[in-house]
Amino acid sequence: MSVNTLIFAHRGAKGTHPENTMIAFQTAEQQGADGIELDVQLSKDGVPVVIHDETVDRTTNGSGWVKDMTYQELQTLDAGSWFDPSFTGQRIPTLNEVLAWVRDTPLLINIELKNGIVPYPNLEQIVIDLVHRYQLEKRVILSSFNHYSLVDIHRLAPHLETAILYMEGLYEPWHYARRIGASALHCYLPAAVPKMIEEAKRAGMPLRPFTVNREEDISSLMQAGCAAIFTDWPERARNIRQTLSH
Ligand code: G3P
Ligand code: MG
Repeated sequence: MSVNTLIFAHRGAKGTHPENTMIAFQTAEQQGADGIELDVQLSKDGVPVVIHDETVDRTTNGSGWVKDMTYQELQTLDAGSWFDPSFTGQRIPTLNEVLAWVRDTPLLINIELKNGIVPYPNLEQIVIDLVHRYQLEKRVILSSFNHYSLVDIHRLAPHLETAILYMEGLYEPWHYARRIGASALHCYLPAAVPKMIEEAKRAGMPLRPFTVNREEDISSLMQAGCAAIFTDWPERARNIRQTLSH
């Protein structure tokens, strides 16, 4: 059978490398991912930085809120050693840095705006400007759990693809997504039941569940014809896809 499910490396190759670092993204590409997913927030002085949590405590050797630290302060933090001492020296990347690298790869890129808890002013326009700077319009998907933010993006840059992030089993979410200008569904794995995959396909809207790490889940979603998956283990997903395709 031919399997067309795209593989997005969730925060990079997060299973084997410190999440949202350059080494995690570079490894994802080496392992054959089709795309990467990352999370973006703003430093105190308005620099878009790539980090998942609103605080730096879990994934660096520092402590405090991203929004309260300047870019210079964030750059002093080590974002690798918490995962394993061999990754000491990894930094919190800027979005600029990641996009400059992505431009010269074939990767797709899903930029998740992490503005569900901290309302970062102007984050949407800042991200859009960088997408344009690196001419990634055709390779980018912008997503957020904050759907007001997606509406803003659609108003500012209607040519860019946006995707709704959600956790629950919404009823026919493609209607709602279209209503707010979005064209893809990024749902929590349990919501990606076979009926949903089938109906989303029929509605012409890509369904891309997160985070799909177990072999049996990767395999069944691929066989069900899911448009894409987000996984911490891109190499595993790549191997499964190859096996299914034979
Ligand atoms: O974008 C998919 C996924 O990353 C959403 O959840 O918490 O891992 O950012 P989270
Ligand atoms: Mg994310």
